[in-house]
Amino acid sequence: PHRRSATGRTAFFNELAQCLFDFVIQLLPTAEEMAVKEDVRKLLEKLIRTIEPESRLLSFGSTANGFSLRNSDMDLCCLIDSKGPPLQASDLVTMLGDLLERETKFHVKTLPFARIPIVKLSLDPSPGLPFGISCDIGFENRLALENTRLLLSYASVDPTRVRTIVLFLKVWTKRRKINSPYRGTLSSYGYVLLVIYFLVHVKNPPVLPNLQQMPPLRPISHEDTHIGEHNIWFFDDTELLRRKWQSANTETVAELLIDFFKYYSRDFSYNTGVASIRSGLLKKESKGWATENDGGRYSDSSRDRNRLCIEDPFETNYNVSRTVTKDGLYTIRGEFMRASRILAARPERAIIALAQLCE
Ligand code: GTP
Ligand code: MG
Repeated sequence: PHRRSATGRTAFFNELAQCLFDFVIQLLPTAEEMAVKEDVRKLLEKLIRTIEPESRLLSFGSTANGFSLRNSDMDLCCLIDSKGPPLQASDLVTMLGDLLERETKFHVKTLPFARIPIVKLSLDPSPGLPFGISCDIGFENRLALENTRLLLSYASVDPTRVRTIVLFLKVWTKRRKINSPYRGTLSSYGYVLLVIYFLVHVKNPPVLPNLQQMPPLRPISHEDTHIGEHNIWFFDDTELLRRKWQSANTETVAELLIDFFKYYSRDFSYNTGVASIRSGLLKKESKGWATENDGGRYSDSSRDRNRLCIEDPFETNYNVSRTVTKDGLYTIRGEFMRASRILAARPERAIIALAQLCE
């Protein structure tokens, strides 16, 4: 039976919000898991330093941005601080691969000639680590460290609402199989950017401020705000933000999630729009990402890469969703519509809606 009264609506939202918290909480990594991962990072750092003494191994991605689920993989980035002639990333990858193969129990695979050379490691499940570990080590990926910090800052402005929505979406996109960039859909990183874009630029009043457009507290040099040509500055004093930023938006996570699905099922302009966290809604045309046939200026491959457009917060010439194919986008939108439909029906028990969503 549909609940049509206003109190019925509110009751449903509150119940769904509670279900979302409960659902997400049981999927968070345990303190033990976090500790094991930190030990692994330290061990790997120690080994890398036998090859390159001036190096640091830093964690990025979900283990560092506050959006990690239980048993998620580890993303590590090796930074080399030495002033001497740098080792080629491809050589480092090969040397490190050999070393880890000799000295550890990890299964090792090296990709020295990939666009971003990496070492892939995995550890078989054991009693203390029932799901094993898988881990990628990349090199000098400073932009990824910065975008991890940006996501962490957004998460800490409004921890409960942002984390609950993002973590729920992560589970949902995995269960519905729309979280595989290699198979034409979108990465976790892409979905997180869609959520932040929605909370900063679509919701009115906004749930989150635009951290990249807030004025700095004191002047900062060009050098300190740029990596290459990319402006990486954002307001990162989250202590201050937590005290000062009070969103006028008081919707529950349930209302926000329902609205998120509605927006991306029918309101976002997929054909012409670019979701930019830095600048709001942009036009594909203005970025040279247009997909329309305008005299053959854009090749088929450009059309295929730009079905869905999400501008990276720092690498603004980079479409994070370039992996999404025509079919992939059709599937993703179909899933947003399905989710909208299930939640709009407001079944008697919110928990049933969640279970149905994640079937
Ligand atoms: P799970 O592994 O599913 O838990 O999610 P995750 O948050 O670790 O996301 P994902 O594995 O998709 O990406 C890990 C990190 O790599 C992100 O936080 C980014 O810092 C970086 N990253 C991933 N994809 C891209 C991309 O397309 N462009 C850029 N610039 N960075 C990316
Ligand atoms: Mg990851």
